Formats: sequence, structure tokens, C-alpha cells
Amino acid sequence: MKVVAFNGSARKDGNTAILIRQVFNVLEEEGFETELIQLAGEPIRGCNACRVCHSAKNERCVIEDDRINEYVQKMKEADGIILGSPTYFSMMTPEMKALIDRTGYVARANDHLFRRKVGAAVVAVRRAGGIPTFDAINHFFLISQMVVPGSSYWNVGIGLKKGDVESDEEGMKTMEDLGRNMAWLIKKLKT
Ligand SMILES: Cc1cc2nc3c(=O)[nH]c(=O)nc-3n(C[C@H](O)[C@H](O)[C@H](O)COP(=O)(O)O)c2cc1C
Repeated sequence: MKVVAFNGSARKDGNTAILIRQVFNVLEEEGFETELIQLAGEPIRGCNACRVCHSAKNERCVIEDDRINEYVQKMKEADGIILGSPTYFSMMTPEMKALIDRTGYVARANDHLFRRKVGAAVVAVRRAGGIPTFDAINHFFLISQMVVPGSSYWNVGIGLKKGDVESDEEGMKTMEDLGRNMAWLIKKLKT
């Protein structure tokens, strides 16, 4: 059983990565393999709306000069997908949006590649805008026919500077509970 996570922050190993690793700690305890992919510094373009993925139906995006096609396969092979983003102007980062638009469109063009996988959003925020970001990421899971577990609060951690989120006790606990619920759900879906 495997869970792959993508960190859409422009800052590697920052608050979003810390929150994702907190979910991973529980998943690993529960016997899951985990992989964290950090998009920081990667030139990921948005969808160009050519719709070639819908005619070719080969599980590929026509833009081949970045790693999106590799990411489609990583998502396809995983049982669970975590999409983590910091809040930028009350929304996910452009890197995360490009990942969602392109992997999501390829998946839809190929008979819903991510159907019934388990998905969870993880969000870092300094003060406000975390919930619109959390909601927007969840729209990706829901239209992809995925299953979304809850936690003891919405999956948002508070912090500004790298590492601040570790002092958000409730945020860290929320991630731990998310990991537990994600593990439970994936195991149920597998039986
Ligand atoms: C361009 C930019 C926009 C931001 N916009 C918001 C915002 O709308 N609301 C907020 O509370 N924090 C905002 N922040 C702060 C980040 O969400 C916060 O520092 C977060 O912990 C960063 O996570 P990271 O360490 O994973 O990058 C913004 C930061 C940047 C760089």
C-alpha cells in the first residue's frame, strides 16, 4: 500500500512539507510506503487546453518538457494521494494548480485513472485563506471520483516561517488524525 504526496510550495521542506510528514509518520506506522515529491523550483506549466489527452487517450499530457507525465503514473500507482499547498493570496500555489489541471485532465481523458483512490488536502497558512485553499484542492479529489477521509479539524496548519507550524499543536494533531483515518480507509477499500 502506497501514499504519494505532492508539496506545491515554492519553499522546499517548509511548513507544508512538515505537515505532510506528520501524516506520513502515522501512515508508515500503519505499514504504508510513502513518497514525498516537492515541486519547489520545478518549471511546471499550466494546461494549454489542446485536449490531445482526450483524443490520444494514452495517459499522457502533450507537454513533455516537465515531469507531469511521471506524476500521472505516480498517482495512478498509489492507493492514496496527498496534495499539500501553502496558502498564497487565499489559494493554492500556481505549481499545485498546474499539477491539478494537467494530471486531472489526463485522468479524466483516460476513464478516470484515479477513481476510488483516497485523497487528502494538506494546507499551510499564516493567518487566513487556508479554507478556500483546502476546499479548492478537495474539488480535484471529488471530481476525480476519489474518496476523501476527514480528520478532527480541517487539514490546515498555522505558521509563517519555516518550522512555525510545529508549534501549532492542534494543526499537528489534525495531521496525525488524518493519517490514521487515511490508513483505515485505504485498508477498508482494499478488502
Ligand atoms: C506569495 C505568498 C502569498 C501568501 N499569501 C498568504 C495568504 O493569503 N494568507 C496567509 O495566511 N498566508 C499567506 N502567505 C504565507 C504562507 O501561506 C505561509 O508562510 C506558509 O506557512 C508557507 O508554507 P511553506 O513553508 O510550506 O511554504 C503567503 C506567502 C507567500 C510567499
